Amino acid sequence: MSIEIHKLHPTIGARVDGLDLRQPLSSETATALIEAWLEHKVLVLPTQAISDAEHVAFSRHFGRLEVHHQNIIRDNAVPEIFKVSNVDEDDNIRPTTDTTMAQLLTTKIWHTDSSFRENPAMGSILRGVEIVREGGQTCFTDMEAVLEALPDDVLGTIRDRRCRHDFEHLSRIAAGRKPTAEEKAAMPPVWQPMVRIHPVTGRRSLYISPIYNDAIEGLDESQSKAILDQLYALVSEERFVYEHQWSEGDIVMWDNRCTMHRILPYDPDERRVMHRTTVVGDGPVIAA
Ligand code: SIN
Repeated sequence: MSIEIHKLHPTIGARVDGLDLRQPLSSETATALIEAWLEHKVLVLPTQAISDAEHVAFSRHFGRLEVHHQNIIRDNAVPEIFKVSNVDEDDNIRPTTDTTMAQLLTTKIWHTDSSFRENPAMGSILRGVEIVREGGQTCFTDMEAVLEALPDDVLGTIRDRRCRHDFEHLSRIAAGRKPTAEEKAAMPPVWQPMVRIHPVTGRRSLYISPIYNDAIEGLDESQSKAILDQLYALVSEERFVYEHQWSEGDIVMWDNRCTMHRILPYDPDERRVMHRTTVVGDGPVIAA
């Protein structure tokens, strides 16, 4: 298989043409994909008609896969699949008042995956199984470019600080389902450096994950909130963002070590079924 890479944005996102993931992937193609992934941070592999098992097999080329700690997210048949879906086990669309749905809807706020783990996810590979007709785009923001654009005073404040990432924060912002005692014990909050170094490229980026962040080390609540709000506004600026408009079967893979993502609103009466695998991280986050 020979692949062609086309940039989709000046600094983040590229489309990969020439791949058919129903066929085995050679080690040369896997290596070319890893290089492109490191360079472009987000890769789009258009319209791949593959099964969950093929999705998992493809993802294993990039590392070990996470199994989510919540059974509401984890697929029963293929546990490496995370269901980011508004359709329940009985194939009904979940009402927006449903607590699982409230948690899933927090994906409309910027985040990077599994930042609440000591060893956060390296990458994520998302497949559009059923897509909506309008809205529901997934946006990606380039945290290396954001770091470079930070005003000096903000950089000075955060450079040597850590931010708290707490899985439980999700339930506070979403007024959704509270984590069980078991889930809480499995996921205590962690403190992550706010400026990190990519373990492979050596590039520096801002490291925050708004759906999990509730405190900055050494700052009181209102100071933390003021800084975080300033950062949230900056990451949303159009110049840093690639917005993916889904077609059925698209696969989008992103590097969690230098990007964040969020989804745009869509009609909650339409089915939106996305399946994701998550590649385990290469170690604790390295402070810059
Ligand atoms: C996610 O946040 O992993 C899911 C993004 C999406 O559903 O588009």
